[in-house]
Amino acid sequence: MIRRRSVLMVVFVLSWTILLSCSSVLVSGAVVTLDSIQVFKTHEWIPSSKPTIFFQCKGENKTVLPDVKEKHVLYTFKGEESWQPLTEVRDIKCKRCGFYEKEAIKSDEVLDEWEFCASDFNRSDGKYVHFKEREFNATFLCLECVTLVQASDHSSNKKNNINWMQWGLIAAISASVTVLFIVGLVTAYKYWQKRKRQQQQARFLKLFEEGDDIEDELGIGPLSHGI
Ligand SMILES: *[C@@H]1O[C@H](CO)[C@@H](O)[C@H](O)[C@H]1NC(C)=O
Ligand SMILES: *[C@@H]1O[C@H](CO)[C@@H](O)[C@H](O)[C@H]1NC(C)=O
Ligand SMILES: *[C@@H]1O[C@H](CO)[C@@H](O)[C@H](O)[C@H]1NC(C)=O
Repeated sequence: MIRRRSVLMVVFVLSWTILLSCSSVLVSGAVVTLDSIQVFKTHEWIPSSKPTIFFQCKGENKTVLPDVKEKHVLYTFKGEESWQPLTEVRDIKCKRCGFYEKEAIKSDEVLDEWEFCASDFNRSDGKYVHFKEREFNATFLCLECVTLVQASDHSSNKKNNINWMQWGLIAAISASVTVLFIVGLVTAYKYWQKRKRQQQQARFLKLFEEGDDIEDELGIGPLSHGI
């Protein structure tokens, strides 16, 4: 009985481990870095001052590109700079992102704003070029996006598979929990029965002993009272 219970316990723990690792893969996002950028025009009013370019996706933080100061210079990055990564992609749904130039007096200048999609990373090297005429040419890098998109290519099929897998796991876990519960209940009941039988036996034996004692007491009783 105990061996069967430990086997079920192992099944239960294994199921949970598999379920947790599956969900962690689905939750973590793909990191997007800026590989290179070249700016063709700046919008500075004062000719001597340097522009401040930043990247931003709607609802996310600004990422200032501290080195990008000159026009027509191709800036290339390693992806490890202090301000990297630019953003993270969690699924194939697009985000509204853009490059902007900070303005001291008026509101920030929009260099370009577009739909930033994981599906644009369709090259095997994980790169994606966004070119805006007379403004800039930027190359983004996201190797994980390639796998993300490939995975979603068989989209509905794959999703159903994942769902079925998860439901299967949940069913397996529920079944093991139920079986464990029943086994535990039966074990407890059997143990209780055994205990009860032992107690009854003990009481029975005690009754005999007590019976002897009572007889002894009865034998001695009247004498002691008489004294
Ligand atoms: C955005 O910036 C704030 C403050 O600088 C920081 O606390 C937060 O973690 C940042 N969020 C992201 C997603 O980087
Ligand atoms: C990659 O995406 C771009 C833009 O979305 C498209 O023009 C191009 O044909 C795609 N290439 C492949 C190999 O799918
Ligand atoms: C943009 O930059 C990439 C990478 O530096 C380059 O391969 C591409 O030809 C450029 N495109 C234009 C239109 O300048």
